Amino acid sequence: MAKRPATGKPTYVGRLHGRDFLNTNDFSQEEINNILKAARDLRQRFRSKKPTDYLKGQTLFMLFYNRSLRTRNSFEAGIYQLGGHAHFLSPSDVYTPTLPEDMIPYQTESIADVARVLSTYGDAIAVRIYGDAAKWHIGRGHRVIQEFAKWSSIPVLNMEDDVYHPFQALADIMAITDVAPKPQGKKFVVSYAYSGGLKPLAVPQSCILVGTQFGMDVVLAHPPGFELEDHVIQACKKNVEEYGGSFTITQNMKEAFEDADFVYPKAWSPKKFFPPYNSTVDKEGATKYQDGYKSWICTPELMDLTNKGKYMHCGPADRGQEVVDEVIDNSKYSLYFQQAENRLHVQKAVMSMVMGRRK
Ligand code: CP
Repeated sequence: MAKRPATGKPTYVGRLHGRDFLNTNDFSQEEINNILKAARDLRQRFRSKKPTDYLKGQTLFMLFYNRSLRTRNSFEAGIYQLGGHAHFLSPSDVYTPTLPEDMIPYQTESIADVARVLSTYGDAIAVRIYGDAAKWHIGRGHRVIQEFAKWSSIPVLNMEDDVYHPFQALADIMAITDVAPKPQGKKFVVSYAYSGGLKPLAVPQSCILVGTQFGMDVVLAHPPGFELEDHVIQACKKNVEEYGGSFTITQNMKEAFEDADFVYPKAWSPKKFFPPYNSTVDKEGATKYQDGYKSWICTPELMDLTNKGKYMHCGPADRGQEVVDEVIDNSKYSLYFQQAENRLHVQKAVMSMVMGRRK
């Protein structure tokens, strides 16, 4: 990739200066392709141990309302490798940044104030919030991140909310395009798979968005009751109009896997048990309902229906529930660890582009 002679920085540094990164669909296919190009450049430099201190002295604030292995460690390692510093914030160790309707005196602080204070100390704010932390009101986690973006004068990065997981989608499309450099027309199946845990809608929603944004033949497979949000389905249909490919929905996992090039079987929660799709938060009802779908598990028999297809999962995968070891641990099938590795490179790419300066 071409370098700028005056600074020695690659041309992608600062190319999206000041932009928030909340949803892949906020960016054009060309912009996502530029992020992937930068990620591949950064991956090559990382593997050959070349310095990449494009964000010297810069600070990333990371606010985690939920636990994490991949996201926390890849962001923290990534900003360090770019010459900057990650500052980990646990919501319970600060006055918990909170929407106006949930304020508790001297325990919480308004997001509007937190965002403006942190904007004077550093260079970007990254936030993860879904599930219990967002009171299981689907969309509330995304509203928290939008509130940060509204008040912050530095970029805000979505490390997964209850609607989108955009950095996971970038890592996933990077893994797909490593295998199939021209993904247009490849069959990409995003399927429900059973877990005893209650997982957010963010990953499948971001997967179908990025798949349709790259002109793939995207198939969404799930049992009744596991419908994704309508505004995301509509956005996928719009992507098909703009980028080609197709988008279909089925309730048959086996049929979906036939001739697939990529399969992404993972759990998400049945949204009809949670507001705004239900009048109350019914975690018990959701758990009982999803327990009826334990047969939705990824096995070698299902993989062998595919077109030598690749198995994908964002991690952590629930082994024995979402997938069996013989699939996830078999390099003939599995892109699991490549996807996890790509998180580092795509996040370094976006940080370089939105936090970096061109001179
Ligand atoms: N895929 C993903 O976001 O992993 P973590 O929950 O470990 O961050």
